[in-house]
Amino acid sequence: MLILAIETSCDETSAAVVKNGKEILSNVIASQVEFHKKYGGIVPELASRKHIEVIAAVVNQALADSKTPLKNIDAVAATFGPGLVGSLIVGLNYAKAIAYALKKPFIPVNHIEGHIYANFLEMGDERRETRKGKSHLPSRISHLSFPFVCLVVSGGHTQLILMKDHIKYETLGRTRDDAAGEAFDKVARFLEIGYPGGPLIDEMSKKGDPKAIDFPRAMMDEGYDFSFSGLKTAVVNYVKRNGMPEKLADLVASFQQAAVDILVEKTINVAKNKKVKWIALAGGVSANSRLREDLKRRAKEEGFEVSIPPLPLCTDNAAMIGSAAYYMIKNGKKSDLDIEAVSTLRI
Ligand code: KG4
Ligand code: ZN
Repeated sequence: MLILAIETSCDETSAAVVKNGKEILSNVIASQVEFHKKYGGIVPELASRKHIEVIAAVVNQALADSKTPLKNIDAVAATFGPGLVGSLIVGLNYAKAIAYALKKPFIPVNHIEGHIYANFLEMGDERRETRKGKSHLPSRISHLSFPFVCLVVSGGHTQLILMKDHIKYETLGRTRDDAAGEAFDKVARFLEIGYPGGPLIDEMSKKGDPKAIDFPRAMMDEGYDFSFSGLKTAVVNYVKRNGMPEKLADLVASFQQAAVDILVEKTINVAKNKKVKWIALAGGVSANSRLREDLKRRAKEEGFEVSIPPLPLCTDNAAMIGSAAYYMIKNGKKSDLDIEAVSTLRI
């Protein structure tokens, strides 16, 4: 089954062709990050306008890269929420129009579900490496099994989800205030490190001492919910009290370590309590090198298997939407051309 998928929930215009929910035939991502940089964050009205400008070219490129004529597409999928409503509408309507014209099913996908399904994709990079004889196909693809616990961490979400089977989710915990990525971005903006904050903090932290400042690990022993706004405030208060440290990397690395400790330990606790074998990671913040390292190390210590998508599939992309749509169709999801964008959609 060939699915054409479109993702425009935030500031990336992406289209992909995915075969049988696993194989990425193409995954084109046009990022607006350079455009929004001068504003220090995403400007929603401009984001939707940019999506309109490039959507046709991005979809055509995805079809061309996959060498799939439009008539061979079996279903069309698009993100319908959560996200910026003006951005969502562009991809959603474009995808609906294609499905309508082709008389093929249209499958609306929840963006968070899409992030989780990045764990089911076979990654081009690794596949190419395999062909060159450099490495094996990652074991996560053949072995990730239900039930598993997934930590979804992005700019808009921080959630612990128990995935019992395909498209069967139970949300166990979520952030009560800022999302983890939002905390990274806000701290970076306060420290005037630049935009987008997450990757810049990750890079700078490599030169700093994560033990330099002992920032609070909020709600560590209080169930499965998270809170990150206190950590952000702790960074602000530290600078107000002590001034900007001589070695900014120490401050940044200490903040990152506090955020990562909270994410990793909560996830391990849930996995223990739910008695699962596998832990999966998803969303933009799962590109964070310290989070990837620490989760792998702690999971190994505690006897869990870990699935972490390769870097290009952690941040927003359409291939993950194509994978989720495939499993939705396989589990009885019907075409729905009437659906509207829902900016506050939950899983
Ligand atoms: O999933 P995503 O691309 O978009 C949303 O659905 O929100 O995630 C974007 C978020 C941003 O907050 C960005 O700063 C963060 O992911 N991010 C990172 C890293 N790469 C992206 N945060 C920490 N370390 C990174 N390497
Ligand atoms: Zn996302």
